[in-house]
Amino acid sequence: MSNFIPYNSLSDKATRYQELLLQIEHLIAGESDMIANMSNINAILKEAFRFFWVGFYLVKENQLVLGPFQGTIACTRINKGRGVCGTAWEKGTTIIVPDVAKFDGHIACSSLSRSEIVIPLIAENNVMGLLDIDSDQMNAFDIVDQFYLEKVAQILIKHTLLNKLL
Ligand code: SME
Repeated sequence: MSNFIPYNSLSDKATRYQELLLQIEHLIAGESDMIANMSNINAILKEAFRFFWVGFYLVKENQLVLGPFQGTIACTRINKGRGVCGTAWEKGTTIIVPDVAKFDGHIACSSLSRSEIVIPLIAENNVMGLLDIDSDQMNAFDIVDQFYLEKVAQILIKHTLLNKLL
C-alpha cells in the first residue's frame, strides 16, 4: 500500500503540508547552513507540489538577490517595492497573487508563471529574505499555503543563523 497522500483538495493539501513540515524540521534540525537548508526546502516543496518555481531571495546591500532555487532562470536583483517580491519585502507580509497579470508591476521571470505566493523571512523584526513560489496554474495558492509556508519560514529562521550569514 502506498503512503502517498494526494493534495488536490483543501484538507488533503493541509495534511500534505503537515507531513512536509515534519520532514523539513527533521532534515534541517541538525544543520545551520543557510544555503544547504534553503536548497533542501526547495527540493521538498517542488517535489511535493510540482510548483513551477520555488526559491529564495536574500536581502543584500538593500536589494533582494537571488538565492537557492529550483526552476527556470530568474531575475537576480529586485529593488524594494518592485514586483511581488519587492512589495512583500517592503510590507513585511505574505502576498498571494491569484493572477500575476493583474498585479501591477509584477516581474515576469517566466511567461509561464500564472500565480504566485511570497513569504518574507523575518528575524528580529527585519526581513532577511523571501520564499517565492510560482505556479503555472491560476489561483494556485490560498490561506492553507500561506499558513504552512509561513511555518516553513519560521522553521528555517529557527535553525539557520540568518543574521550572522547575510
Ligand atoms: N515574479 C516575481 C519575481 C521573481 S520570479 O517570479 C522568480 C516578482 O514579481 O517579484
